Amino acid sequence: MSTSSILLISSDEAISSTVGDALDAIEGARVNRQDMSVSQMNGSAVELASDHDIVIFATDPSIAADLSAIEMLTDHRGADTVYLALTDADLPLSKARALTRAGVDDVLPFPSPGNEIVEQVAHWIEKKRIALEERYTSIGTRGKVIAVQQARGGIGATTIAVNLADQLLDRRGTFKKEASNRVVIVDLDLQFGTVGDFLDIEEQEGLLQLAVENFLPDTSWVEQSLIRLPSGLAVLAAPQRFAPLDSLQPEQVAGLIATLKTMFDYVVVDLPRALVGWIEPVLAETDRLYIVTDMTVPAVRASRRLMDFVLADNAALPIEMIINREKKPMMLREHHREASKALDVPFNHWIPDDPKAARNAIDFGKPLSEVSARSELAKGIHQLARATLTQLPKDVALVRV
Ligand SMILES: Nc1ncnc2c1ncn2[C@@H]1O[C@H](COP(=O)(O)OP(=O)(O)OP(=O)(O)O)[C@@H](O)[C@H]1O
Ligand SMILES: [Mg+2]
Repeated sequence: MSTSSILLISSDEAISSTVGDALDAIEGARVNRQDMSVSQMNGSAVELASDHDIVIFATDPSIAADLSAIEMLTDHRGADTVYLALTDADLPLSKARALTRAGVDDVLPFPSPGNEIVEQVAHWIEKKRIALEERYTSIGTRGKVIAVQQARGGIGATTIAVNLADQLLDRRGTFKKEASNRVVIVDLDLQFGTVGDFLDIEEQEGLLQLAVENFLPDTSWVEQSLIRLPSGLAVLAAPQRFAPLDSLQPEQVAGLIATLKTMFDYVVVDLPRALVGWIEPVLAETDRLYIVTDMTVPAVRASRRLMDFVLADNAALPIEMIINREKKPMMLREHHREASKALDVPFNHWIPDDPKAARNAIDFGKPLSEVSARSELAKGIHQLARATLTQLPKDVALVRV
């Protein structure tokens, strides 16, 4: 299913309620009603319009003020916003042409028989969905999936996932503004996820909706549900309200990961600690699993159990350990060597203990690169990102012309 946001602009209450109620019946549509005429629209209303998928406005094209307001609207159109004019059913052709010239995509006659308006709007929603899907599939990206799991609670997995994702943007240019890669971070720690807090994101209900309503996510649902930070990082945060873990279906998670892979070069997943059934489809697509641990005996043992669980069904899954809150030693000490042997993996990634920088990032709700870029912690995660980029280069898609 996809969701579509529709903005309905009309100062006529009768139109607002008849058309609004009819549109509410379209599956996945969210209708936002604005009681004003197009000619009354100011700057902020124009901005609001470009945030919607579809803007429908009642208009009388013989009013010059309406026409120039429509031109202003369509001049500031959002990349994919569709503009539909709702107008007198007996409109002469020349007037309809004036509307098209002003940038309107289609004219909906009102009143119209039966369900015609709903059908026309549904047609535009579908057309948009197909165009979006095609845009991504024609680029042919097969993003790399990087999953982050914790050996114990509070070990620093989210800190690492968030800042790794930020660093995978690999920003270049003056003031490091241009991201070289498209990156998304997904908080699949549905119940206790803190990615949204780390990035100071308000409410995001997408994943709750996914858990509660049983639909397969597609490109337009993802576009609607994620938030893009000024850095370019896309975020799908866990909901604020409690989501029942087992209501999310493995097919939905498989669909989500498959969709994200067509849209992004890197998909970073913050995994929940619970080993629920829908972890499997994530692991099946994972190109690298990072287990965040420390060198204490309980954490090393928990890492071993996690690895056994994961490898049982995904024997070829590349797993790397991240030892958090410990600087890389010049030489491995006895307990390091024992742990490395028990886990049967080399220890390649060490992130130093740096409470000040860690705290600073949380307080500001920003990635380390923006608030403590020179800290030991930021440098450690930067190195982790560089290693990840080198070992897992993004898929250079063959763009079909
Ligand atoms: N390298 C580090 N140095 C100092 N403090 C750190 C470091 N890494 C993480 N922390 C701090 O440890 C705390 C827990 O971090 P975080 O939330 O990232 O862990 P988590 O494993 O995701 O925990 P949860 O079990 O809640 O999911 C946070 O206060 C964080 O700032
Ligand atoms: Mg966490």
